[in-house]
Amino acid sequence: MKVVVAVTGASGTIYAKGFLKAAKEHVIETHLIITDSGEMVAKHELGGIDGLVKLAHSVYDHKDLLAGIASGSHDVDAMVIVPCTMKSVSAIAHGFADNLVTRAADVQLKEGRPLILVPRETPVHAIHLENMAKLAHMGAVILPAMPGFYHDPKAFKTSSILSLGRSSTSWALKIKCTRDGDQTNPLSSFPICSR
Ligand SMILES: Cc1cc2nc3c(=O)[nH]c(=O)nc-3n(C[C@H](O)[C@H](O)[C@H](O)COP(=O)(O)O)c2cc1C
Repeated sequence: MKVVVAVTGASGTIYAKGFLKAAKEHVIETHLIITDSGEMVAKHELGGIDGLVKLAHSVYDHKDLLAGIASGSHDVDAMVIVPCTMKSVSAIAHGFADNLVTRAADVQLKEGRPLILVPRETPVHAIHLENMAKLAHMGAVILPAMPGFYHDPKAFKTSSILSLGRSSTSWALKIKCTRDGDQTNPLSSFPICSR
C-alpha cells in the first residue's frame, strides 16, 4: 500500500519520524514531501532531514507539481500530514493548492480518499478552529499532536515517545485495514476505516 507523508513547518517532527518508522515496519510504501519550513524545523528538532529521508520509500520536491501524486489518477491509499501547520491547514481548507503538499491533500479530498492531519499549534484562534472543522466536515481525520499521560511518565520525553509509538502504529493499522476491507478487524470502526 502507498501512503503520502508530508512534513510541514510545525513543531513535532519527531512524530513524522515515528510514523515513517511504524509504516516501514508495516511494509507500507511511504512517499515523503518536506516543505522548506518543515526542513528548517526538522534541522532544529532532529538535527536535519536525513533521519526522515532514510525511512521513506521515495522523496519529492515540495515544489514539484508535475509529480504523479499531484494527479487524481495516481493511486494513493492515504495521505498523512505530520506535523501539520496552521498555514497548511488553511491552504487545504480553502483549496489553495500551491505546493505539492497542499495539492496532494486537495487530490485526496476531491477523490474521496483518506487524509489525516496532525496539527500542532497552541493556543488556537477561531480561524484555526474553523479551518480544522471545515476539513473534518469534508471527511479528513484531525489527529492533533496531544500526548497522553495515562502511563504515568517519569519524564516528558518518555511520554511523547510512548504516545508517538502507539499512535503511529494505530494510524498505520487503520490505513492498512482500510485497504484490506477487513470488517472483522476491531480497528474498522475508526472513521478512516469505515469509508
Ligand atoms: C521553529 C519554528 C517552529 C514553528 N512551529 C509552528 C507550529 O508548531 N505550528 C504552526 O502552525 N506553525 C509553526 N511555525 C510557523 C510555520 O513554519 C510557518 O507558518 C510556515 O510558513 C509554514 O509553512 P508550511 O506549512 O508550508 O510548512 C513555526 C516556525 C518556526 C520557524
